[in-house]
Amino acid sequence: MKNIKAIIFDAYGTLFDVNSAAEKCKDKIGDKWEGFANYWRTTQLEYTWLRSLMKRHKDFWQVTEDSLDKSMKAYKIDSSMRNELLDLYKILSPFEEVPEVLKLLKEKNFKLAILSNGTPALLNQLVKSNNLDNLFDDLFSIEEVGIYKPDSKVYDMPVNKYNIEKNEVTFLSANTWDVSGGGNFGFNSVWVNRNNNIFDNLDYKPQNEIENLKKLIDII
Ligand code: LAC
Repeated sequence: MKNIKAIIFDAYGTLFDVNSAAEKCKDKIGDKWEGFANYWRTTQLEYTWLRSLMKRHKDFWQVTEDSLDKSMKAYKIDSSMRNELLDLYKILSPFEEVPEVLKLLKEKNFKLAILSNGTPALLNQLVKSNNLDNLFDDLFSIEEVGIYKPDSKVYDMPVNKYNIEKNEVTFLSANTWDVSGGGNFGFNSVWVNRNNNIFDNLDYKPQNEIENLKKLIDII
């Protein structure tokens, strides 16, 4: 990767562990916590894609609540857990290596930004609660364009703001479909394959695959 000016990260699943809310409640939820967490995440993403296709936008927090309600029914989780799970979702934990890698990249003078489905308020709270707020130049939220990833209007935001070319961006996501979205758009893509997953067949293969963000330092 040459002439990279901006390093843009997906938030949920890439920097922050979406399963950490349910994991923190695993004593109350029991062994099914992980299946429940995966179901919640899958439903949440399906709702973003479906709402974009139906042109019935609701923000990511509302979608997160709606998908939680379906998931709690599916997994027979007591309704008394609802508020606790939602409060924990607002302060999801970052993956272990994230703070130190972001600090290293910041010293190298790249533009660093998040590009996410999350609302501006959610993204602000996520980075603040984890003491990462000084590391980012921008927190780009899809609320600015009113449609979810992988619509190209989303990936256009950093290119427009920084007045740079698509191929001057390195885009990282742990979500295979988001790597395909950003890669098909024209970003240099890095798939953060944390769990040894299989990539999608969506006419795009990631330029780089790493198992966590530490390896990013070697690539750029
Ligand atoms: C995001 C979701 C896709 O942060 O993880 O945009």
